[in-house]
Amino acid sequence: MLRSAVSLKQTGGRKLAGVVFAEEAIAARVRALGREITAQYPDGDLLVVGLLKGSFIFLSDLVRRIERPLQVDFLVATSYGTETTSSGSVQLLYDPETELEGKHILLVEDIVETGSTLNRLVALLRERRPRSLNVCALLHKRMAERMELEPAFVGFDAPRSFLVGYGLDHAEDFRHLPYIASLT
Ligand code: IMP
Ligand code: MG
Repeated sequence: MLRSAVSLKQTGGRKLAGVVFAEEAIAARVRALGREITAQYPDGDLLVVGLLKGSFIFLSDLVRRIERPLQVDFLVATSYGTETTSSGSVQLLYDPETELEGKHILLVEDIVETGSTLNRLVALLRERRPRSLNVCALLHKRMAERMELEPAFVGFDAPRSFLVGYGLDHAEDFRHLPYIASLT
């Protein structure tokens, strides 16, 4: 793990400072989240909607730990360019084609920072009249001032530093790391 972190230091503009959540810790937490979701969801159609790109690894691991029928779809929204601070505005690039009305929707997000991405998406998804709407966030920085909907499922409370890996990027780099690390 450390060897790959060291070699990655030479590639991007920003360097990895250290591992914050190790691969094994993430796997254990994702298994537990899968059990929680399996136990807590009532009958009915469950649609797991991943917010791209950041949730792609988390979602693919999570759905394999949910032991009940479900469907998967994706949304794309952008709030970051190459900056490490939130712009505050969220742009929705496309909507899921799947019908949302009458379904239990579980929106899967990589990390909650200001909450503006989720606030915008929750409002949009509620317009589609789902049977229920919940959020599952892998990481939560616990710094959002006003949230339309607090995530019902959270992987880890995260430090307020900028994190990469396991789907999270800095300017599109580092998404493939199997662990979550902070940047210098
Ligand atoms: P929010 O809208 O301020 O809550 O920011 C959420 C979005 O910003 C996430 O979906 C991420 O794409 C991105 N983001 C926030 N914090 C980080 C971080 O520490 N690393 C990588 N991306 C982040
Ligand atoms: Mg991002």
